[in-house]
This record gives sequence, C-alpha cells and structure tokens, in this order.
Amino acid sequence: SWEGGTRVTRSEFVVVANRLPVDRVVAEDGTASWRRSPGGLVSAIAPVMRSRKGTWIGWHGAPDEVLEPFDEDGMHLVPVKQTAEEVELYYEGFSNATLWPLYHDVIAPPVYDRAMWDAYVRVNQRFAEAAAEVAADGAIVWIQDYQLQLVPKMLRELRPDVRIGFFLHIPFPPLELFWQLPWRRRILEGLLGADLVGFQLPGAASNFVRLCRRLLDARYLKQDVFWDDRIVRARAFPISVDVHELRKLVARPEVRERAEEIRTDLGDATIFLGVDRLDYTKGIAQRLQAFGELFEDGNLKPGQAVFVQIATPSRERVEQYQLLREQIEQQVGRINGTHGELGFPVIHYLHTSYDRAELAALYLAADVMVVTPLRDGMNLVAKEYVACRDDMRGTLVLSEFAGAAAELKRAYQVNPYDIDGLKETLLTALNAEPMEQARRMRSMRKRVIEHDVDRWAHDFLAELEQPHNL
Ligand code: ADP
Ligand code: G6P
Repeated sequence: SWEGGTRVTRSEFVVVANRLPVDRVVAEDGTASWRRSPGGLVSAIAPVMRSRKGTWIGWHGAPDEVLEPFDEDGMHLVPVKQTAEEVELYYEGFSNATLWPLYHDVIAPPVYDRAMWDAYVRVNQRFAEAAAEVAADGAIVWIQDYQLQLVPKMLRELRPDVRIGFFLHIPFPPLELFWQLPWRRRILEGLLGADLVGFQLPGAASNFVRLCRRLLDARYLKQDVFWDDRIVRARAFPISVDVHELRKLVARPEVRERAEEIRTDLGDATIFLGVDRLDYTKGIAQRLQAFGELFEDGNLKPGQAVFVQIATPSRERVEQYQLLREQIEQQVGRINGTHGELGFPVIHYLHTSYDRAELAALYLAADVMVVTPLRDGMNLVAKEYVACRDDMRGTLVLSEFAGAAAELKRAYQVNPYDIDGLKETLLTALNAEPMEQARRMRSMRKRVIEHDVDRWAHDFLAELEQPHNL
C-alpha cells in the first residue's frame, strides 16, 4: 500500500496521472538521473502544473523503487510505486495491451486477461489512496487518462468532499467496440465517480453517454448523466500545446541556426518530417510506404527529398510494439536499399527522443510535416509544428483520424489507409506555393494560438468548479 503518512503536504489542486513528468533512469554504474517522460500527456500537463502550483501524483517509471515526494522544475511531485509485476500486468498489460488497442479502433488485437485486470484494480486503488491523502478539504482533484479510469469512484468513496475531474487523453470508442471489454461495467462506473468527465471530441462524450444509457440503464439529458443521486457531466475539451514555450524556443537564435544547420547537413534537400512515439497507432508504415513509392514512380529523386522520421522508444516490452519496431526497421532498410544512393539515403530514421530545442529546430527545418495516425485522441505534434512556424512557411499533412483534424481544417488532410491518396497529398503539400503555405499556416496558427493548453486547462477547471447539484 501507499506509504506517505505524515510527510505529505496537503494540496488544494491535485493532478493524478500514471506518469510523473520525469522518469527515473539508473545507468549501468548505478548512478541515477531524471529524464523527461515521453508522450502528449506530460507535454500538456507540465506547463499547467508549473503555473498552478499544484501537486502531481504519478509513477516515476522505475519498477519496485519507492521514492519520497520531491520538487522539480517548479512542480511538487508525489511518486507512487509500482512493483515489477504491476508494471507488467497493470501498465504493460491492462493499460497498454488491453485498453490502448481497444480504444484505438482495435488496430492491434486487445488482450483480455483476468490477472491484468486484477492488477489494474489494485494499482488504481493505490493511486486513489495517494490522492485521498494529499488532497486538502474540498480540493480539486484532476485524474488523467485511461490508466486510471477506476480512480474517480474509488476516490469518491474515500473522500466525498473533494471535487473530481477526469480527462481522457485518448479516443473513447463507440459502443460496438467497448462492448467487448469483459469489465465494461466496472470501467463505466469508475468514470461516473467523477463530477466532470472530459474528452477530446464531442463524439467521444456522446459515445460515453450512450454507453451509460445502454449498459447501466442510466438516465441522461444531452451530455449530463444522472447517476447515484448526482449529475455527471460529459464534455469535450480539445487539448493543446504550450504556445508560449514554443514561441520562446523558436525565437532563440541558436534554435534558428540549428534549423539552418539541419538543412545544410541534409544537402538542402526538401525535408519531410515525422515525429512520434514508436506506436502502431501513428501510421508510420503507411507514410513511409507512400514516400517510398514516390521514388519508385519517379516523382522524387534521391538527394532532392528526404524523410526524417524521429521515433521515440515506447512501451518496449509490449509485444505489439516489438513487432512494430521490427516492421518499421525492415521497411526503412528496404526503402533505403532500393531507392537510396551513395551519400543519399532517402529516409533518416532515428529511434530516439530529442530535447525541446532540437525538436523545435526540426519543425523549423521541415518543409512538409507528416502526421498520419490511424487513430489519435488529439496529436500534439501537429499543433506543435503549427505553433513553431511563425515564418508562415511549411505545410502540414494530417490524418483525418487525428482529433486535431477537427480544428486544423487548413491542413492537407488525408486518409492514411489510402496509400494513393497519401502519395498525391504528399506531392500537393510539397508543391504548395509560398502564398498558399502562408494562407493555410495563418489560419491554423490562429486556432492554435487562441486555443492553447492554458485555455484548455482553464476551460476544464472552470466547468469543474461550477456547481451542478440535483
Ligand atoms: P502521444 O501522446 O500519443 O505520444 P502526441 O503527438 O499527442 O502523441 O504527443 C507526443 C509528444 O511527445 C509531443 O509533445 C512531442 O513533441 C513529443 N515527442 C514525440 N516524439 C518525440 C521525440 N522523438 N523526441 C522528443 N519528443 C517527442
Ligand atoms: C499517450 C497517453 C499518455 C502516456 C503517453 C506516453 O500520450 O495518452 O497517458 O503517458 O502516451 O506513454 P507511456 O506509456 O510511456 O506513458
């Protein structure tokens, strides 16, 4: 169980997420250090926490290790432990081999395993207890994402005085898919412990309300569900990026110089860029396939165009991620082997993660940003690219299956399953005149700048604080 006890400082504003913003990494010689955790949730929540001075409860990424609360980068962090077995069953298992594929259109087959479910319940209970201990009287507790869907109900049982918000960062599936889940009722009841359940898109909120009606026979009115003598509100809050941070980054002379250097290093070729966690939802194989075929067809020549694919290692012990890595690395080898020339590989594949400044330089250097998920709750990479391009140049190719497509209407939108359509769109984006690039970029920037991550947090918390009693 959770060992916090008397050392805990109580907080009026508490965020609970599976991950803390930093990972504990221990080198072979035993020295430990911190590294930024991967993914969109951390990118979005970190700036919110820095400005609101709350407490962040989460896992620090190292199995079995028990750590004391600490402060980092202006945030108060409370680590929650996970044993090696829980990492395997709760994190790699139920979270990332069951829920992740189920919620992303079953792109990979979900695993349904009872031991994984039991671990999910156990670890959710631990997070709920940690939150109950840290939250001040009447505090706001904001629970994040699919790993912690049981926490709202568990926390309400422990602390009926606190106000509970939940936000799902990934898609919420339609009834027909959710129905597969053997523990479907428990998950829904878990979420209904919250006062406000937030989703990326209105469609996801509707899926949720429809499920509450069909599965639990709950009464509802529009997006309000009546449950347990309370009103649970389901609403959409599209998440966004820290525009302020990104603008500051690209204003730095060394970042702009680095962008120039990248262009020179790549022989002044046209740069197509992909930046993702190495995840099967991201459509990396589809975009590389389309790009490779453009050489086959003679539309692109080695030396004239390159694809830079940065892929952060992710969930490396989950089987589907191992399969994906093998597939992508074979594909890159095949395409380079077939179409590259001495000194001119056509794909630069980097299986690593970069710091924010290097990422910003890459965004600035890219002519065509290629974001082609098969399903994605939002996709912050697309918004980061737009936020960085204050020069009004560059084009964005964006999948219709990313949540961001609802806002970035001026992107070159594609269906990533349609390889011919994808090829055509890559060429159209590549050949867009500067005037056309600027026109589209201006419109997308307006949206992202006006709806940044701060506004997202503000909108969610304002809704959460509104009284909604029966
Ligand atoms: P997800 O949350 O599924 O990983 P998002 O696109 O919403 O997808 O968020 C990814 C976040 O991780 C972004 O903030 C992006 O800048 C960051 N990121 C992705 N790939 C890399 C990388 N190779 N190096 C550093 N940061 C990365
Ligand atoms: C997505 C999920 C987050 C998760 C992140 C990184 O953004 O929505 O909840 O933290 O991916 O994945 P990881 O498994 O490394 O935490």
